Amino acid sequence: MATPLHTNEFLHGGDYNPDQWLDHPEVIEQDFQDFKQAKLNTVTLGIFAWDKLEPSEGQYDFSWLDQIFDQAEAQGTKIILSTPSGARPRWLSEKYPEVLRVNEQGQRNQFGERHNHCYTAPVYREKVQAINRQLAQRYGKRPSLLLWHISNEYGGACYCDLCQAAFREWVQAKYQTLANLNHAYWNAFWSHEYTSWDQIQAPSPSGDTGVMGLNLDWRRFVTDRTIDFFENEIKPLRELTPDIPVTANFMGGNPSESHVFYDLDYQKFAEHVDVVSWDSYPNWSNGYESTARLAMKTALMNDVMRSLKHSNYLIMESTPSQVNWHPFNRAKRPGMHEMGSLQQIAHGADSVLYFQLHQSLGASEMFHGSVVTNHRGTRTRAFNDVTKVGQDLQQLQPVLRTTRKTAKVAIVFDYDNMWALDDARNYANETKQYWRTIQEHYQYFWEHDIPVEIVSVTDDLTPYSLVIDPMHFMMSHAFAAKLKAYVEQGGHLVGTYITGVVDENFLAYQGDGLADLQATYGISVQETDTLYPQQHNALTAYHQAYQINDYCDVVDLATAQSVGTYQKDFYAGTPAVTKNTLGTGTAHYLAARTGTDFLAAFYEQLATTLQLKLPLPIAKNNAHVAIQVREDDQQSYYFVTNFSHQPATITLNQSLKNVFSDQVVSDQQELTSYGVQVYVSKK
Ligand code: GLA
Ligand code: ZN
Repeated sequence: MATPLHTNEFLHGGDYNPDQWLDHPEVIEQDFQDFKQAKLNTVTLGIFAWDKLEPSEGQYDFSWLDQIFDQAEAQGTKIILSTPSGARPRWLSEKYPEVLRVNEQGQRNQFGERHNHCYTAPVYREKVQAINRQLAQRYGKRPSLLLWHISNEYGGACYCDLCQAAFREWVQAKYQTLANLNHAYWNAFWSHEYTSWDQIQAPSPSGDTGVMGLNLDWRRFVTDRTIDFFENEIKPLRELTPDIPVTANFMGGNPSESHVFYDLDYQKFAEHVDVVSWDSYPNWSNGYESTARLAMKTALMNDVMRSLKHSNYLIMESTPSQVNWHPFNRAKRPGMHEMGSLQQIAHGADSVLYFQLHQSLGASEMFHGSVVTNHRGTRTRAFNDVTKVGQDLQQLQPVLRTTRKTAKVAIVFDYDNMWALDDARNYANETKQYWRTIQEHYQYFWEHDIPVEIVSVTDDLTPYSLVIDPMHFMMSHAFAAKLKAYVEQGGHLVGTYITGVVDENFLAYQGDGLADLQATYGISVQETDTLYPQQHNALTAYHQAYQINDYCDVVDLATAQSVGTYQKDFYAGTPAVTKNTLGTGTAHYLAARTGTDFLAAFYEQLATTLQLKLPLPIAKNNAHVAIQVREDDQQSYYFVTNFSHQPATITLNQSLKNVFSDQVVSDQQELTSYGVQVYVSKK
């Protein structure tokens, strides 16, 4: 059971490191006044503050943090307190070098940077627990303490002897016998059989990188080890502060990228946190895609995070202006800060938190955007933008108790599958693009304001009218059986090329493949043709031709019927899109990769048949305007956002109250470029 987060306001604030200004109390004094002015109500303290909290081994100094708590509490500011394990003091790695991470070539790091400790070293685990215990004892009862922020952005792996030994144990526990292991890794190939458990080594460029099962197990192990480290960290907190929830800030990075954070299986990790939080840094106003396209991808990342626990989540970090690590650190155009901040609320976030509240004077993040900056203090556009969002969040206060509208559409996303597909020595590395494929399938639903849940293979599929399962290369028997049962009982399924090729051990399916999958789609796949980027095929469906790129599965029909056929090549005239009816449901197989033009036409048909479009009281005539709904059993809140640099007009089909103006309005309404309005209606 997750420990709930208790707050009666949207959280607005973020990472604050006054430990950089302890010899300038007037700076901290001024900061708190500025925070109040910017309508901030939360500070996240203590991230990376270990050397100020424990300047030498076992000598703690909490006096400064006590004072910050006092200052925050004096003005009713809530505190998210971080455990400091994301960066170590020098004394710790000097005395205990085993806390330093070892790379895949076996070289140990020097002291430096952050997020790079060994996850196994008993002494690091012990030291982390010790300081966390101190923090819990000292601050656990403070009325302002809202949430524990564990470490910072866990990621990466350690290849030291201790971690290798832990990996060996993990492998042994999983496979029990060397015979099982040798079979799973197919070690008869290239004379690779293990004859003793001690021979197992993590994948390394100076050892093995071509044992697919080993590569995948290592990734799974890294997630498990990280969770194990996290569980060790939170032990004293669970014991001393059972009512304070814990979170670990997950990475969403820049959602514009065509990949998702890769190191850890967040679907597994999320089971261990009370509330999901993530760090969101879209490069708004980039020069290579429309704001609406980036908004679609950012919406998807929000839905991914929301779906991890199928509930509201937190934005733990975002930037008040620009970052310092995008290839080009562009300023947000006027209006974009509010647009991006409220987009997150619209998808179910209960906070807008920033990195950072006060800019560093020096070091690597001195130029990263901040609420209060070195150069101009509060006399910045960013400060005004932040204050405006603070005001919005106050006006949106009643929305806090709502959740995003329940989705009838689910897209399956699976980490094992992503890792395995990318590692498969087949197809074309450049065009596999699992995540981009998910983005392309999501696009239609975003443009039509249809809520989507991003589900894992362990989630229940029965609540959804439509399940989309793209490029499910690595699929277990169990999941194939789940899909079959889902369709038989009336579900509607869409799958694509490159599905059901290997089992969860990365061993190829024999013969005609996964029987349940074939029964579900009513086809069998003969072969997959990988196209060069300049090569294309086409399919004809719904009386129109659509271009095909990258992948063509050549399929045999069993019980399915063909909905669209290939136009060219040796498989011309054979099915490129199929539909099978099974029980009371249907399963479509998209045997080829198309553009979003075909996906739009295809999903439009399904959305109509399955009645997926929400009966909204607001009409739009512009795909760059998005409408998201948060609701409870009394009211529905419509977040209407114009993600284009042109003004847009929407039409209200009934009178609705505008939450910001507090006026009841109807008919046509104007949205400025990047403008957001929130309307409410009673149910
Ligand atoms: C991450 C980290 C922060 C900071 C920001 C900068 O999200 O958690 O400490 O480095 O990036 O964008
Ligand atoms: Zn290690």
